[in-house]
Formats: sequence, C-alpha cells, structure tokens
Amino acid sequence: MKKVYIKSYGCQMNVYDSGRMADLLKPLGYETQDDYPNADIVILNTCHIREKADEKLYSDLGRIRPFKDEKAEKGERMLVVVAGCVGQAQGGEIIRRAPLVDIVLGPQTYHRLPEMIARALRTVDGKGIVDTDFPLESKFDSLPTMEEGVGPSAFLSIQEGCDKFCTFCVVPYTRGAEFSRPVQDVLKEAQNLVERGVREITLLGQNVNAYHGLTAVGQECGLGELLFKLSEINGLERLRYMTSHPRDMDDLLYQAHRDLPQVMPFIHLPIQSGSNRILEAMNRKHKVEMYLEIMQKLRSARPDIALSSDFIVGFPGETDADFEDTLALVRQVKYHMAYSFKYSPRPGTPGAALETQVSEEVKTERLNRLQELLMTHQIEHNQAMVGKITPVLLDRKGKQDGQFLGRNPYMQSVYVEAHPRLWGKIVDVKVTNAFQNSLTGKIVLKEDVITAA
Ligand code: SAH
Ligand code: SF4
Ligand code: F3S
Repeated sequence: MKKVYIKSYGCQMNVYDSGRMADLLKPLGYETQDDYPNADIVILNTCHIREKADEKLYSDLGRIRPFKDEKAEKGERMLVVVAGCVGQAQGGEIIRRAPLVDIVLGPQTYHRLPEMIARALRTVDGKGIVDTDFPLESKFDSLPTMEEGVGPSAFLSIQEGCDKFCTFCVVPYTRGAEFSRPVQDVLKEAQNLVERGVREITLLGQNVNAYHGLTAVGQECGLGELLFKLSEINGLERLRYMTSHPRDMDDLLYQAHRDLPQVMPFIHLPIQSGSNRILEAMNRKHKVEMYLEIMQKLRSARPDIALSSDFIVGFPGETDADFEDTLALVRQVKYHMAYSFKYSPRPGTPGAALETQVSEEVKTERLNRLQELLMTHQIEHNQAMVGKITPVLLDRKGKQDGQFLGRNPYMQSVYVEAHPRLWGKIVDVKVTNAFQNSLTGKIVLKEDVITAA
C-alpha cells in the first residue's frame, strides 16, 4: 500500500473534505497514515479564514521539505498537495512561494485529485498543477461512498458556499456560490452512514439553514423539512447541523426542534457583534433585536436549548461603546459555549480596505474581556449539570485508560469510565464534576435511573 498523509486546518467542512479525499485515493491504493515523513502523498487541506491559518501552511511546508528531498535522493517521490481555501485564494502563488508544492486545488475541485495525481506523477520537470476552478459539475456527483472518518458520529455536507458577503469573510470567495445537494442524495448518504454504525449525523454547510435542496419531484426542501425526513431513518438517533445564519431561520426549523427528539437541543448561531452599527458595517443584514427574537423562538420551541455563537472583536470602526454592546448581549443570552476571534483583515474583502482598523492592543484587550465573560457562563452551564443524568454518545477515547469521551445533547464534553463494548453507544451518565471545558460522570444503570426519578 502507498501512504497518504492528510492534514485539516479548517472548519468541519474542511475536515469532511479531507475524509472525502481519503476515500478518493483508497481505490488507487493509498492508505491514510498519521505522519508525513515517509508518505507518498502529503495533502495539506488549508483554511484561509484568519491570518494564522495560512501562516501555518508555510511553516508546515518548510518542515516537510527535507523529507521530500530525502525521498528524492533515494529516487522516490513525495507529492505535496495544497488543497482547501488557501489553495483557492492563492492558487499558483503558492507554488511560486514554495516550489516543493506539486498540486494546488480548491474546495470545489478535489474530486479531480486522482487525475491530477496521475498527471503530476507523469511530469518529471516538477512543474506544478493548479486547479482552482468552480466547475459546472458538482464534486458530490463524483465522490465515492463515505468511508474515511466514519465513527459513531459523522459529518454530512449538505450545503456549500455563501452568497452573503459579510465584509470580513473570505468564504464566498473560497467556496463560491451557495449550493444545496439534492434531498435524495442526502437521504441516501445518511442511510448509508447509519448502516455503517453511525448514530449521530451533523449536517454541514457554511449556511446550513439556507439549505434548499430539490426533492425527487423537483420541489424545494428547506433544512426543517430535511430534518423531518432524516428523522424517519431507523437507528439515526441524533441530528445536529451547523453553521446557521440568523437570516435563514424559519418556522419549520423551530418546529423540528420542538417536535423531533432526534434534533439535539443545541444551535450554533453566530451573531459576531452585539452592536447594530457594527453588524451593518459587517453586512450581516440582521439586527440584534432580530437575533434576540430568534433566541426567544428557539427557547419556546425547546426550553432547554443550548446556545452557541461566534464573535469578532475589533472589526474596523468598533468603539468601546460597540464592544460594550457585545458584552451586554452576551450577558443577556448567556451562551453555553462560543468562539471568539480578533478581527483579521483578509486580502480582497471590503473590511480589509477600511481605514478605521482597530489596533492589535485594543483587539487583544477586548478579546480577553469577552472570553472571560463567555467562560463564566460556560462554567455556570457546566456546573448546572452536576447531579443530573445526561445521555452521552461514547465516540472517542478519553485521556486515561478505560476512559471515554462523548457529547451530551447540549454538546458538552463528558468524560466517563466505560467498558470498551460500550463504544458507539449512547449511555446515561450521572454528572459528578464540572470543569471549564468538560464534565465527568459515572454511567448509571437503568434501575438507578428509575430510583433517581
Ligand atoms: N458561515 C458562518 C461562519 C463562517 S466562518 C456564519 O455566517 O456565521 C467562521 C467564523 O470565523 C465566523 O463566524 C467568524 O466569527 C470568524 N471569522 C470569519 N472571518 C473572520 C475574520 N476575517 N477575522 C476574524 N474572524 C473571522
Ligand atoms: Fe462568511 Fe458571512 Fe457567508 Fe458566514 S454568512 S460564510 S460569515 S460571508
Ligand atoms: Fe477555513 Fe475554508 Fe472552512 S476558509 S473555515 S476551511 S470554509
């Protein structure tokens, strides 16, 4: 078997794409392995969302070079492939800057990878291949059945791209226009995953709730309706979706949260800022008031729903007062968890051209204050679980022997000791301790649950 090493740098969709690339290479005799020194192919599946993400690519390329040279001295080849969103954004520039790279491709052309590899292996002059098209054919039509990365919990990409053009974001440029996969394809892939033992599916999309795939009879189907259809699959116990946009919430989606036990009581709904002025400058096309109304509707549909968001601090023009508005919003919503970032000006986006950039120092100070506040709420939510019984899908090994790690419905990470045969099962766990980022607990037998109730 030949060896391929694939590294994901980005979002869940980037991780999903890495799995699909592994699936494409398997029939060609490539097996995935965890390190690169003697790999035949190294694929760096990059992310362009913030500065640090693409700096990592070049430092990794520097580390890989001596191993590629070493192989070449032995008369062997190591193909270096840069895939993903930096590939899309920088194309041939990457090969000029790092000539060891053989192939550059974007998120919409990785189904052509086998062909590109064959071409690269035929060329001896070391001229790189670049393919960053947005092809008319959909890559989903040419991808093999999902195999790689299939555990008890799996990702399923249903929607891609973005037409919203928030002024800070590269995604509309790197992933292209919004596209929804047909309903039948999604149902088939979900069914196939469940047959492989998957219990939980997370539907992925840059704007997953903008999903509008066509049914077999050519009607548009939204995310809410899709969740109703998916919930009919026997053995599929949990459904999640991410990332949603406030503008694309609709009644059927609230209903899915209200009526379907499979739809987990958790939503990641980024707001980015708590100031209407900044939201407008970001071109988010929604106001704080509208977002709070959505939170209210979600809570009426599912009173225990856990809320999560992304925040950007230091967007150009953000004043102390704007930032205080963000803190006020956070205090009001009390998120279960959230991600927060310093604004990173991305080449080619409107935000980068603004003259009102905020200093690094102010960004750092605001980020620290925001993260501290978010953490107090996260800890409170974690502590509120102590003593409660919560179902956990055991899908990862914990740090210690005999220990598993899994998620409860609210996406909280729970460590628990369990017999290996329970791997992939959903077990009831009584929470004993709460920490910043996780909970610990003990499995309860059904009889205990009855006496506890
Ligand atoms: N489609 C999703 C998020 C995509 S990017 C949405 O609309 O919410 C994931 C997160 O990265 C964003 O929510 C945002 O918080 C952050 N992000 C995107 N571009 C950024 C930039 N230029 N600087 C800092 N953070 C950024
Ligand atoms: Fe980026 Fe905005 Fe599109 Fe999300 S909605 S991917 S933040 S442009
Ligand atoms: Fe990064 Fe591309 Fe995802 S920029 S966050 S890998 S869509």
